[in-house]
Amino acid sequence: AGARPLAGRHVLVTSGPTHEPIDPVRYIANRSSGAQGTAIGAALRDLGARVTFVTGPAIVPPPEGVDVVAVETADQMLAAVRAALPADAAVMVAAVADWRVAQASGQKIKKGNGAAPVLTLAPNPDILATLSRLEEGRPRLVVGFAAETESILDHARAKRRAKGCDWILANDVSPGTGIMGGGENAVTLITGEGEEAWPRMGKEAVARRLALRIAEALG
Ligand code: C5P
Repeated sequence: AGARPLAGRHVLVTSGPTHEPIDPVRYIANRSSGAQGTAIGAALRDLGARVTFVTGPAIVPPPEGVDVVAVETADQMLAAVRAALPADAAVMVAAVADWRVAQASGQKIKKGNGAAPVLTLAPNPDILATLSRLEEGRPRLVVGFAAETESILDHARAKRRAKGCDWILANDVSPGTGIMGGGENAVTLITGEGEEAWPRMGKEAVARRLALRIAEALG
């Protein structure tokens, strides 16, 4: 396969944050920039993969030369992921909101009636866990991220088991690291066979290294 070891392979990537509406003008979001997801999509493309790139409203634009599916909410992201199957591998990089507003208002919520509104939240679907547990059409290799601020490796190992994915990349997103929204990442790759701590490097370099590992694993 030479320089394009993923030629003929279809790889699904989720990226960016999700936005969960409160009303037509307000939403709940998080600080994901989409940088790591875009780098991974580009690296997979560079190795010859056909990439379906399902992205929430990210700051960093999606890579060129991939099939972009733009979504806003976790529910839409899950639907887009299902619609993109079958895939040989999936890398779930998106920072999916854990909760959505149970009943988003159809009209802008007005102030002025005194009491502040109370938002009741409902859990979002876990896209990584759903994909990992599919009885039919599960990608051969499912990769997740575990962004943690403490007990990074313990939490990541537990997350890998709980979600049923094959690999998980653990990373420390404590404010001091500058990783969330920054240009670098320091990850530990946890597979069923072992753990590898990769040195801190640019998100593009993390992406290239991961893409090569995926190519190796798919054979
Ligand atoms: O549970 P946590 O959000 O820490 O898990 C992170 C991993 O799970 C990431 O790979 C993320 O893309 C994925 N995830 C998901 N759907 C969710 C929550 C997380 O796919 N609702």
